[in-house]
Amino acid sequence: MKMRLLAPALLSIVPLQVTGAETSAHFPIPEALVAEHKALHVTLGRAVKEPGALGAAARGVEQVLHPHFQREEEIALPPLALLPRLARGETPPEMREVLRMTDQLEAELPKMLEEHKKVVAALSAFRREAVAAGREEYVEFADELTLHARNEEQVLYPAALLVGRFVKLQLKQ
Ligand SMILES: [Fe+2]
Ligand SMILES: [Fe+2]
Repeated sequence: MKMRLLAPALLSIVPLQVTGAETSAHFPIPEALVAEHKALHVTLGRAVKEPGALGAAARGVEQVLHPHFQREEEIALPPLALLPRLARGETPPEMREVLRMTDQLEAELPKMLEEHKKVVAALSAFRREAVAAGREEYVEFADELTLHARNEEQVLYPAALLVGRFVKLQLKQ
């Protein structure tokens, strides 16, 4: 992910989450991840207003991406708020509440991975239009969002699921 996504100016203005998804006060989504979603959301918000085939392709991305981001901000990203404390060996009493989210994530994982395939397919169509229109910023955006999905599949979703498994182990002790 490019460093400009994490610019200090952006970090200072990001809301708790991007989509208006309902989140738990105990588990605020880590700021760096909010900033990344926000940056992607802002660029896509510009792209959907572009005229012609480029804008139409961007709207195709938005259609599959928005509900996906929303669900992610409800169940996949908040559990990551516990990571630093669990890694320090702490066992906060509210950790039990994370299981509601991690159990749901486990159940919905196949659907979320399927949605990633749809997002990546829509992005590939958008990227072709961006190349044809000579809009390098949108080509970069398509590559960044594709990488974002890979990061979630390879690191963030497994980390959130591990939080749930670890909390269950701790509660058994
Ligand atoms: Fe995401
Ligand atoms: Fe995702």
